Amino acid sequence: MDFKIRPARKEDCKDVSRMIMDLAVFENVADQVKISHEELERDGFCQNPLFECLIAEVPEEHKSKDGFTVVGYALYFYTYSTWKGRSVYLEDLYVMPEFRGNGIGKGLLSKVAEVGKEKQCVRLNLSVLDWNTSAREFYAAKGAQNLTESEGWHSIRFDKLNMENLAKEAPKD
Ligand SMILES: CC(C)(COP(=O)(O)OP(=O)(O)OC[C@H]1O[C@@H](n2cnc3c(N)ncnc32)[C@H](O)[C@@H]1OP(=O)(O)O)[C@@H](O)C(=O)NCCC(=O)NCCS
Repeated sequence: MDFKIRPARKEDCKDVSRMIMDLAVFENVADQVKISHEELERDGFCQNPLFECLIAEVPEEHKSKDGFTVVGYALYFYTYSTWKGRSVYLEDLYVMPEFRGNGIGKGLLSKVAEVGKEKQCVRLNLSVLDWNTSAREFYAAKGAQNLTESEGWHSIRFDKLNMENLAKEAPKD
């Protein structure tokens, strides 16, 4: 299938927002999505963007049954490893179900790797849910290593409330 991968523009945020929700539904965590397309516009398309995004687009004649031509996305940002230096973190990778199996996911993932390489990143990190064997196999097939299995890393988060509680304990200047 004919498709194009390009950097997202501000006006793509509605489509990205739609697919963020689709991905959350797929991951059974739809209730956790609080972000709006306005927030994506603000955070991704300002002077110092907090993320970058690539879009997969199909021609009008291949649009989805609901009329969408933007059918996949990869959202990523830059992190830093104190062992290795510049790194890129893939937050989301998603292709709409009716467009899967056409090389779009691979196209998005490899493009993120290319961008990372151009920015002199030395690694591409991501997280995937335990039960998502399909995605885990997809990444493994492309050469990714499972750090939980090989190094025993746990994924840790302070949610908003716990982060705010912690902040209250910060030493005063
Ligand atoms: C994972 C996902 C992005 C893959 O996108 P896709 O467009 O269907 O994948 P592609 O057609 O690009 O597949 C590319 C390659 O991966 C292989 N592949 C795809 N799914 C695979 C799987 N489940 N297991 C092993 N290999 C797989 C294909 O055979 C193909 O191999 P090739 O390079 O030798 O031709 C897509 O299935 C998706 O959006 N899934 C739901 C959301 C999700 O799980 N996202 C990841 C969250 S971390």
